[in-house]
Amino acid sequence: MIALYPGSFDPLTYGHLDVIERAAYLFERVIVAVLRNPSKTPLFTVEERLNQIHRAVQHLKNVDVDAFSGLTVTFARKKEASVLLRGLRVVSDFELELQMAQTNKTLAAEIETIFLSTSTEHSFLSSSLVKGIAAVGGPISHMVPQHIEQALRERSGPKEDMH
Ligand code: PNS
Repeated sequence: MIALYPGSFDPLTYGHLDVIERAAYLFERVIVAVLRNPSKTPLFTVEERLNQIHRAVQHLKNVDVDAFSGLTVTFARKKEASVLLRGLRVVSDFELELQMAQTNKTLAAEIETIFLSTSTEHSFLSSSLVKGIAAVGGPISHMVPQHIEQALRERSGPKEDMH
């Protein structure tokens, strides 16, 4: 069974990676799919995010990384994925995630959305939170892989004195 894990991944966090690693164990193949979203202004370009994710998942042999535009279900069909995968962190995620899952079901009845609950140590994590901390030079090494931390440091403003 092929699972498609769609998202913005701007940037990938350890929370995303946790979902990917557990999905790689459950599914034959996992495709991490980065949305090309012209209506959002991301910190990293799609190509940068693809490279970052590639590096982070290189130890997982059944995980591919790809970019898409348009509908997630259309891309899932193209890739022959029968499952859409999303991570659930906290209760407040649920409302939007349920709405997206139900919408996707009306668009493609044969595709199921499966949620993996994020490990408790990552449940507080979000890409925007990481960007916010990185922007003021705060510590993020426990939130993102090292190469992404470095990319965030290069992209973000001057360091704040943490002492
Ligand atoms: O990481 P994100 O930003 O929470 O991911 C949201 C994403 C990419 C999964 C969602 O916005 C999406 O699927 N966009 C593609 C457009 C689409 O298929 N819309 C209909 C389903 S809601």
